[in-house]
Amino acid sequence: MSTEVVFFILSVAILFVTSISILVTTLATGSPPTPSGPSLRREIVAMIAFADPSEGVIYDLGSGWGGLAKAVARANPERSVIGIERSFIPWALAAVSNRLFGPGNLLFRRADFSQQDLTDAAVAICYLSGDTLRDLAPGLEQRLPPGCALISATFAWPGRKPVAKATAKDLFNSPVYLYRIALDESQ
Ligand SMILES: C[S@@+](CC[C@H](N)C(=O)[O-])C[C@H]1O[C@@H](n2cnc3c(N)ncnc32)[C@H](O)[C@@H]1O
Repeated sequence: MSTEVVFFILSVAILFVTSISILVTTLATGSPPTPSGPSLRREIVAMIAFADPSEGVIYDLGSGWGGLAKAVARANPERSVIGIERSFIPWALAAVSNRLFGPGNLLFRRADFSQQDLTDAAVAICYLSGDTLRDLAPGLEQRLPPGCALISATFAWPGRKPVAKATAKDLFNSPVYLYRIALDESQ
């Protein structure tokens, strides 16, 4: 068999396995690993500055290929940023790229964020589908500490009134909402 044929078969096999892996996780989570666009990222970064977290970790809950978490970590070099992602291929590429190119204040965990300890969170960012948000919002609220800033891109958080709202200059004028976990909410 020639090198070209081996290369072709390998490429098709990698593409097939990658597609199946992403499809299976998307069916399980209800959120495909669609990356946020540059304008949406800019609004999220600005919203973090507006929320003015004093201390604590910034989480990207469902970090996909890692682009948003990377932009947030670069804009906040003095803070720890953690991206949590369930889908193996996006997580693996984000983790390898971060290992090679940094930034050093960013970490990617492969996990289901609804099962993670988030008690050190100062900011939690969600760019999830509406259905995923509806399913996971009540459980997530219980995991976040009082005072934590909750930023939801595109979809409003069910049952909460935002304390601020911004609009990305993208094709859909995507909204970015800021919420605050109240001091009297139990964990
Ligand atoms: C729309 S993408 C957002 C990617 C990234 N935050 C960005 O802005 O570029 C949503 C991601 O959330 C992930 N996700 C959904 N539910 C999850 C869960 N329970 N735990 C971990 N990741 C989850 C999906 O696999 C998907 O990659």
